[in-house]
Amino acid sequence: MLVQDALASRRSIRRYLPTPVDKATVTRILEGATRAPSGHNTQPWKVYAVAGRARETLVAAMLDVARNEPWEQRKPEYDYYPTTWVEPFLGRKRKLGYDLYKALGIARDDMPARERQMHENFKFFGAPVGLFVTFDRRMATGTFMDVGMFIEAVMLGARAEGLDTCGQAIFTWVHDVVRRHLPIPGEELLACGIALGHADRTALENTFTVEKVPAAQFASFHGFDDAPA
Ligand SMILES: Cc1cc2nc3c(=O)[nH]c(=O)nc-3n(C[C@H](O)[C@H](O)[C@H](O)COP(=O)(O)O)c2cc1C
Repeated sequence: MLVQDALASRRSIRRYLPTPVDKATVTRILEGATRAPSGHNTQPWKVYAVAGRARETLVAAMLDVARNEPWEQRKPEYDYYPTTWVEPFLGRKRKLGYDLYKALGIARDDMPARERQMHENFKFFGAPVGLFVTFDRRMATGTFMDVGMFIEAVMLGARAEGLDTCGQAIFTWVHDVVRRHLPIPGEELLACGIALGHADRTALENTFTVEKVPAAQFASFHGFDDAPA
């Protein structure tokens, strides 16, 4: 698959078929992603991949916490989102929620249904494989860039295997639960998870495509039209 095709076809998939993904495929995807760049080649990422019973046990534990403990009291391991949202980000965030709930036929004020949909995160949206991406918290802010590039490489590599993904920062709110089930050392920060599997293309969750701001709106070009010196 051409890189441009992988980029163009990647989108967050929030409903998967139960078709399993074997260890060799996951390994190939991760192996490909090792080529991702990182400052001074630090390669700070670590991955904990779950499938089968390990996945089921973790899903049950996360759902139990999400359903029975007050969510507002949970603290993420790091601030993925700002405390105060400003435009244009607030508008984009709202539009995503609006489009997702509209596709699912969930009314704006139907909080129980919205919460149930949010809890689908903890099932990896039905994906047979969940990846948890961590890095050593003694590294600096720039490490988030390195890990982000690795995550995108995993997502594009998955496309090359005919698979789809969804980034899942939500797991940082339940990092303590994840840690009880996976051997993540204390010095590692859980950056996010990634659902990995075969997309259920007919599922309502997957029927909308997010809009992207064109390059002409976020990039400015300087000196390109200058006459050659
Ligand atoms: C690091 C990261 C974390 C994310 N966390 C979540 C999440 O917890 N739950 C979710 O439903 N989507 C999550 N997403 C998906 C974003 O909402 C999605 O990328 C965005 O809406 C753009 O849509 P697209 O991926 O289809 O282009 C995450 C994406 C990234 C990159």
